[in-house]
Amino acid sequence: MKSTPFVLLFAATCAILGFTGLSVRHEAPAPVAPTKPPTTWPDYSARGPGFRVPQGPDGPMIAYGYDLLTRTYAIVGPEVAAPAMRFAGNNLSCQNCHLDGGTNRFAFPLVGVFGAFPRSLPGGGEMTLVDRLNRCMTHSMNGRPLPTDSREMQAMVAFLKYLGDVPPAPPQPPTPQPPLSPSAERGAVVFDKVCAACHQPNGLGKRLGASSQPEGYEFPPLWGPDTFNDAAGLDMAPRMTAFVLHNMPRGTDPLHPVLSLQQAWDVATYVLAQPRPRYAGP
Ligand code: HEC
Ligand code: HEC
Repeated sequence: MKSTPFVLLFAATCAILGFTGLSVRHEAPAPVAPTKPPTTWPDYSARGPGFRVPQGPDGPMIAYGYDLLTRTYAIVGPEVAAPAMRFAGNNLSCQNCHLDGGTNRFAFPLVGVFGAFPRSLPGGGEMTLVDRLNRCMTHSMNGRPLPTDSREMQAMVAFLKYLGDVPPAPPQPPTPQPPLSPSAERGAVVFDKVCAACHQPNGLGKRLGASSQPEGYEFPPLWGPDTFNDAAGLDMAPRMTAFVLHNMPRGTDPLHPVLSLQQAWDVATYVLAQPRPRYAGP
């Protein structure tokens, strides 16, 4: 059993790396990948091989799209230097919800969705991919739409097109109802116990960088003035519940849930009962 200390050291190192890996910032993509877009599900998580700039004429636009998704606050956030570039109304990144650069299967993945647009609307008419992206700009990012022909919109579309050849994840089954009807009061207890350590006891998150520097968040805000508005997709209890149950605390996945179904409903109900920006309308 001479190797035991090494095994323990190895396990401890993995645990530490695994843990700090959760808060590793997604730095600018480095070397060049094969020209062809991925045909199997890519992994842009901090633990995976990550995003690499593809070769070819579209490479720079695809990489800019990846950058926009992962460092939204630094490029089109409300605190960037050029006022004309302030399209987002909060300092979130798309990836705060579309986890791991949109490659996390349990967090509204963006892999394979390119082909689903334009999508017919129940009331007639259709929604283009540009419309859908701008919906997240005006709701989840609480900002204003990006012009269709802007370099930023074109880059996000290029990134989604690049991820478009992979079959999309099967739709998530509806979130099961909890045993007891959800309670914000019980949710407050879950919040204090489980969420506050990262998202802070006041729920306003923890910024990166010096004050008013557009560096985004280490832990994004769950309510308050700098987060998604009351018309956003996440401002719906069943969706918030599924997201939290499957992904929170960050690093959790559906095979290793930390919360019970009841706790997830309760804490989602609590979070959604807190103040957040009002959607101002189109
Ligand atoms: C506060 C969380 C949040 C943020 C931030 C956010 N989104 Fe979303 N997004 C959602 C939710 C929730 C949905 C709905 C998913 C569904 O329909 O199941 C969604 C849907 C989408 C879709 C459609 C996906 C599909 O399968 O039809 C696209 C594309 C998208 N978002 C792109 C973006 C981009 C680009 C950004 C950043 C500019 C962004 N989102 C920021 C929560 C967010
Ligand atoms: C270990 C730290 C940690 C804990 C604990 C944690 N979170 Fe998070 N959470 C994060 C991080 C980091 C992100 C952003 C993920 C990213 O950008 O990769 C996030 C994102 C979110 C988001 C989407 C972004 C936003 O601003 O709304 C929600 C909602 C959320 N967490 C809810 C919760 C809830 C509810 C709990 C408690 C049950 C919780 N989290 C516990 C670290 C944590």
